Amino acid sequence: MGRRALPKIDPQLDLTGYLWKFEELPRPWNAVCVFERIAPLEVEVGSGKGMFLCQASMAQPQHDFLGIEIAIKYAHFSAARLAKLGVPNAAVVHGDALLVFAEIFPENLLHTVHIYFPDPWWKKRHRKRRVIRESFLADLYRTLKPGGTVHFWTDVQTYFEESRALFRQGGFLEKWAASELRAPSQAEGEPIPEGQPPPGYQTHFERRMRLQAVPVFKAIFEKPLELPCSNRSCSG
Ligand SMILES: C[S@@+](CC[C@H](N)C(=O)[O-])C[C@H]1O[C@@H](n2cnc3c(N)ncnc32)[C@H](O)[C@@H]1O
Repeated sequence: MGRRALPKIDPQLDLTGYLWKFEELPRPWNAVCVFERIAPLEVEVGSGKGMFLCQASMAQPQHDFLGIEIAIKYAHFSAARLAKLGVPNAAVVHGDALLVFAEIFPENLLHTVHIYFPDPWWKKRHRKRRVIRESFLADLYRTLKPGGTVHFWTDVQTYFEESRALFRQGGFLEKWAASELRAPSQAEGEPIPEGQPPPGYQTHFERRMRLQAVPVFKAIFEKPLELPCSNRSCSG
């Protein structure tokens, strides 16, 4: 993902509770084992260097945030960031998000799912590796609560349009969609002081796109609330 080497992680940092291996996750899912409470759960698929998890967990202490990251170095790095912050409501799973959704999460569990800049797999023969695919959207639909939302962003317009069609086919409502080209403020080019929220962007890739003046395509999809029963026999 990144071009620069990751900063070294302090070997003394205790990552217990912040870094979970896929194999260690409680089966069946048990929020109390991971967060020591039950609270609305938000999941980030492909959490990269953990910028979103750090910001969101501080901004919304009443929600829990679980990142899922397949690359061990990024999972480890973001768990270390969370441990340094000492937030009690965020953790990272090292594993494949597709498996976590298929094997760990029960139905109607998740409040919100965030998918920011998933790998585009440009080559046609590699497209089947994209995270946004029919089988994953079926698991996403099953595991979201009715009324729960998916926030999806990408800089690849074709991936965006293909994904919108797949979400619609999967039964999701498209609540909002837009493309955004925002010029970076001067502060965005500056290094971020330790522990401070970055100005105006919420993921590492969003910052990168902003600095390169690349448009970002964003959408929010919702799992519909159950329709009230219109059948006369339901009302007795
Ligand atoms: C382009 S990066 C974006 C990272 C972050 N969301 C951001 O906006 O800065 C995509 C990330 O998704 C991770 N990833 C790719 N496939 C994955 C999967 N199946 N499960 C979990 N993480 C995955 C990659 O390792 C990488 O860190």
